[in-house]
Amino acid sequence: MTSVNEKDATLSNLLHEDRKFPPSPEFAAQANGKADLYTQAQDDRLGFWAQQAKNLDWETDFTEVLDWSNAPFAQWFVGGTLNVAYNCVDRHVEAGYGDQVAIRFEGEPGDQRNVTYQDLMNEVSQAANALEALGIKAGDRVAIYMPMIPEAVVAMLACARVGAPHSVVFAGFSAEALRSRIEDADAKLVITADGQNRRGSVMSLKPAVDEAVAASPSIENVLVVKRTGHEVAWGDKDMWWHDFVGQQSTEHTPVAFDSEHPLFILYTSGTTGKPKGILHTTGGYLTQATYTHKMVFDLKPDTDVYWCTADIGWVTGHSYIVYGPLANRVTQVIYEGTPDSPAKDRWWDIIERHGVTLLYTAPTAIRTFMKWGDELPQSHDLSSLRLLGSVGEPINPEAWMWYRDVIGGNNCPIIDTWWQTETGAMMISPLPGVTATKPGSAMGALPGIGIAVVNDAGEPLGNGSGGFLVLTEPWPAMLRGIWGDNQRFVDTYWSRWPQYYFAGDGAKLDEDGAIWLLGRVDDVMNVSGHRISTTEVESALVSHPSVAEAAVVGASDETTGQGIVAFVILRGGHSEDASAEDYIQELRNHVAKEIGPIAKPRQILIVPELPKTRSGKILRRLLQDVAENRSVGDSTTLADPTVMNLISAGLAAAPSDD
Ligand code: WTA
Repeated sequence: MTSVNEKDATLSNLLHEDRKFPPSPEFAAQANGKADLYTQAQDDRLGFWAQQAKNLDWETDFTEVLDWSNAPFAQWFVGGTLNVAYNCVDRHVEAGYGDQVAIRFEGEPGDQRNVTYQDLMNEVSQAANALEALGIKAGDRVAIYMPMIPEAVVAMLACARVGAPHSVVFAGFSAEALRSRIEDADAKLVITADGQNRRGSVMSLKPAVDEAVAASPSIENVLVVKRTGHEVAWGDKDMWWHDFVGQQSTEHTPVAFDSEHPLFILYTSGTTGKPKGILHTTGGYLTQATYTHKMVFDLKPDTDVYWCTADIGWVTGHSYIVYGPLANRVTQVIYEGTPDSPAKDRWWDIIERHGVTLLYTAPTAIRTFMKWGDELPQSHDLSSLRLLGSVGEPINPEAWMWYRDVIGGNNCPIIDTWWQTETGAMMISPLPGVTATKPGSAMGALPGIGIAVVNDAGEPLGNGSGGFLVLTEPWPAMLRGIWGDNQRFVDTYWSRWPQYYFAGDGAKLDEDGAIWLLGRVDDVMNVSGHRISTTEVESALVSHPSVAEAAVVGASDETTGQGIVAFVILRGGHSEDASAEDYIQELRNHVAKEIGPIAKPRQILIVPELPKTRSGKILRRLLQDVAENRSVGDSTTLADPTVMNLISAGLAAAPSDD
């Protein structure tokens, strides 16, 4: 949507960011990752990855590091076999760490539960036995729609243990979003909960599952964790987790799977309305998730308390709550609820009470806390923190500095990590013991990763220029395809420049070669770190009987990064109270019902026309100018250049939304 050139202008000031924060000598001296990682990877990239893979426990050793002969379909660690759950749980128990706490769970109402590695092994074994008892075999798909509770982690690991790829669907998505994902993956089982605690009240999950399952013939059973205990409807396919899983044996022998056995599918928004099922496999994924977690967070499993605030419904929860951290024998906090319950200092309270040392969160959260004021974090002792991470969207230098000063006490390396659902694991990030960081920059490719910033012709650009971010070498955790649609995989990522993976992001290299991410260059919005496609929201709007046509843009938003702004043309006969607030509210709720509350437009404008070229293509760039209150750019290619005046006039009159 926005061109790289337009973004250039706003970025020129960042090029002059000259503050630099090298790691303290003490941090550097004890860091897991030293500068020699870069040289090792440079000298022998595949040998370097083979060495990282050997930190896992393989049942059968691999015979070849990478087979790229069928590019872009990679095979990593060919011939190797391993079990992911064994690597994340059993091997730590066997090594004598059964009593170490893996998960320090804290529910929103304040309930707490410590899950040791021995507990986790017992529960994952029980759940794996339950899956097998329900007829789930290696290769069968399981949908998981759960709150942030330990059973969500157990469910994922149990699937991994029996080789059944999971498809975790964020519990904030609607019944329809869940249904379409179940259908696309042809899932046999749903694992869910009765509800979750959000902002001091019970939010029911089961009704959405009931609605989705009623329309999903592939689903044979539904396993329901009792979390909130409120009354829920019960059907023939439903089984309580505590009854059914609880009665299983705590013994389960894991079977090793091929390195390329599918581990999970995770749906993410692309530029069309249909979400893509991103497919990840076993050996390469676990290798890179584990390696990056250890080096970038500098994890010391005996002393650190790690907390990643993401939800397991997103890839960050997969790679940096479940697989990477547990393979590294982490002790981590999992928190069920929202940051403002019971008060707006809940996170700082959690950090203080649990002695959190490593924190991983998103810029949206940081900007929200900035707005809430310094007094809240300052009223807690946050001195246990020793490293702070950020992910999901570009972090502006102000938020970066605030994070460093107010949360980190000017004493913690800030790690801005760039990656995607598709990349599976971090790709661009500082190494905390090596890199002198600049506020707002993700700095450079991690050892073993190849990136470039290229122009339209695919030519790599030098320092001081902006263009498109591409990945130049296959990497272990790369997606292996889009579920059921390999052509779309090739078209989406490998067609613009067949020799590169195109990430869809703009980026700029500053004079020192540090990288600055500029956001998406396609029709994907990034709202609070969540990817939502403009087309998806447009389709949802058009599915409302009163809407004839819709165009959606992401407008920059101080807190959420981008906010969704929709321009809507009504069908004939629906124009009377078009700007009435309750009508606008109805449309917003309709989008929430179709996709989920995260996709609710911030603002909906009823317009008489949309700006289109003579060939009928909507010029979203112009709508974005309107949505961001800029003077409208070049409109000479419009079929009817007066349209923009009508739209801008309508904007002045429309009621704005919350
Ligand atoms: C954006 C999240 C700037 C980017 C792990 C990417 C970022 C998309 C950063 C992937 C960052 C992620 N700086 N932008 N540190 N991290 N992004 O699939 O646009 O939910 O393409 O994966 O988020 O989002 P996804």
